[in-house]
Amino acid sequence: MKEIKLHINVVLNAIDELSLEDRELVEKAMEATDSAYAEYSHFYVGAALRLSDGTIVIGANQENAAFPSGLCAERSAIFSAQSQFPQRPVAAIAIAAKNENGFLAKPITPCGACRQVMLGIEDRYKCHMKVLLYGTDGVYCLNSASDLMPLSFDASSML
Ligand code: THU
Repeated sequence: MKEIKLHINVVLNAIDELSLEDRELVEKAMEATDSAYAEYSHFYVGAALRLSDGTIVIGANQENAAFPSGLCAERSAIFSAQSQFPQRPVAAIAIAAKNENGFLAKPITPCGACRQVMLGIEDRYKCHMKVLLYGTDGVYCLNSASDLMPLSFDASSML
């Protein structure tokens, strides 16, 4: 038997320790929470992407009475960006979430399906996507979506 230890690199920064462009992206994600349609969960998630040329694309969770028909903020933003700008890799994503009491203290962490889609974007463009996860306690910063998904499945897993 061999034990394999996996580790990921996460940095917790105060928001004012971020670069200006990362801070702006986090603020866009916070603003995007206002575009959520979260009639059922009352959990409002915003995502903001920075594309390779600096274009910012936002998304917010969109719910439906038939729950599986809704979509998370991250995938709303990513699929919108891919539809409008298919040639532009995603350089960074920021995510923020609030409930009826305001923004969460602990950084929001994306669901498994969104992590898989983020990983697919890195695989498609062969470049890393920086991940910024906002909470009022601080911002988790990761250099790659693959850090959110150890032992992941992508196109190379089928070779
Ligand atoms: N949600 C997101 O938009 N992103 C996440 O990372 C986690 C969950 C949404 C889906 C649903 O509309 C609500 O939050 C509650 O799960």
